[in-house]
Amino acid sequence: MEPIPYSPAPKITVIGTGYLGATHAICMAVLGFDVLGVDVDERKIAQLDAGEVPFFEPGLSEKLREAIATGRLRFTTDFDQAAAFGDVHFVCVGTPQAANSAAAELKYVHAAFTSLASRIDRKALLVGKSTVPIGTAARLARMVHELSPAGVDLELAWNPEFLREGYAVEDTLHPDRLVVGVASEWAEARLRRVFEPLLAQGTPLIVTELATAELVKVAANSFLATKISFINAMAEVCEATGADVSLLARALSLDSRIGGRFLKPGLGFGGGCLPKDIRAFKHRAEELGVGQAVRFLSEVDSINNRRRTRSVDLIRELAGGDLAGVKVAALGAAFKPNSDDVRDAPALDVARLLYLEGAAVTVYDPEANRNAHRAYPDLDYAGSLAGAVQDADVVALLTEWDEFRRAEPQQLAALVAHRRIFDGRHALDQDLYTGLGWEYRALGRPYQPSTARAATQDGRVPRPGAVVGETPQDARTT
Ligand code: UGA
Repeated sequence: MEPIPYSPAPKITVIGTGYLGATHAICMAVLGFDVLGVDVDERKIAQLDAGEVPFFEPGLSEKLREAIATGRLRFTTDFDQAAAFGDVHFVCVGTPQAANSAAAELKYVHAAFTSLASRIDRKALLVGKSTVPIGTAARLARMVHELSPAGVDLELAWNPEFLREGYAVEDTLHPDRLVVGVASEWAEARLRRVFEPLLAQGTPLIVTELATAELVKVAANSFLATKISFINAMAEVCEATGADVSLLARALSLDSRIGGRFLKPGLGFGGGCLPKDIRAFKHRAEELGVGQAVRFLSEVDSINNRRRTRSVDLIRELAGGDLAGVKVAALGAAFKPNSDDVRDAPALDVARLLYLEGAAVTVYDPEANRNAHRAYPDLDYAGSLAGAVQDADVVALLTEWDEFRRAEPQQLAALVAHRRIFDGRHALDQDLYTGLGWEYRALGRPYQPSTARAATQDGRVPRPGAVVGETPQDARTT
């Protein structure tokens, strides 16, 4: 490629200030760009303007205040202002699952591109970051050229985002890779200029056309979902054979070709991305006539959903076969720790299923109680771990927050009505719990009765099959 001609730093707008957009806007300002964050939600914009992040994301509030203090970051709901300000416009609006189908809902994407394109009258770059079905970018490019007073001078590119909730700042400032789908050298040069601070750190950049950039995102999420469902499928086999999926995962993870990340068995995946992305991908592949190629994603989805009902089975078994009137402490509501996001959260789904079977469920999540209450007002919520487990017949760990991992089983024992624990995330030390008289159940692990009487002085008994010299902590595979 020709050396990039010198170009001044472009002014950046970021449309949509959810997890993705707010993080992107804030980090771009921290990296030295002048940034305007845009959203149709006035409340969100007012909060951000006041230095408040409207959702829980570790480290982001500090970065927001840092960015505002530089004077380089502002927010608005005014699209005229956005169109006049930006040289490069990033579109980061949501693409949730459509109400009555597996397809992605694209109305927010269309609205954002339409609002911008109809107002922009000079050469500029529109960059989609939202996760969209393959072919969307090419269609939007045609629409934008027709709509904009600038015509074909308003170019379109795609730059998929791989940030994880809970690590949004780290993933944005130090990504594994950057992918840009472009239609011209000019667009590529603009994006190289925007990402110069990250490229200077040695971040690999993959330059593609539009379709590959769209596909990278859904392929990556599909792969991750498949990996999780693979180990959870093995958990089902373990349950039928008496094998232990924790040890299996540990053994598999030591093969460097397989690796241990996203091989953690348990309650499975949820959130606003993986579940809806695999469904939308399958739907789009069918439209394109290649549905067979990704039919396995239906199985990935089914395996994942079965983990939720199987969790209810184990909790029911712990309760003695019937959940009616049983007090269950549901620890966790967020779809994963370090997040307050309850979209398609396995934890909250299990709490709901328990409630539907007549259990008296008390939910406690360190950050997600408010969102969970909004989604399921019928469940009871406690303001603390102790409040949730008080008099519980069964404790169910559903999201592996550190607070739950570190809880002292002896202290919990003093609060509960019965020492029965379901570990939905393989987050606890089974031997420690069983050694203290707890009945412990986990997906894909053989049932071991409480060993309180057989325990050694330190409260531990050797775990069958444990690797010599390995602590239970080592066996985790996140
Ligand atoms: C996911 C991807 O990891 C990001 O790369 C992507 O940018 C993002 O979706 C997106 O499309 O926006 P996120 O939804 O934040 O990120 O969550 P993950 O960390 O991927 O976790 C997803 C779910 O899988 C969680 O419910 C988690 O508990 C579960 N999980 C993860 C497992 O059950 N086992 C594992 O081994 C790992």
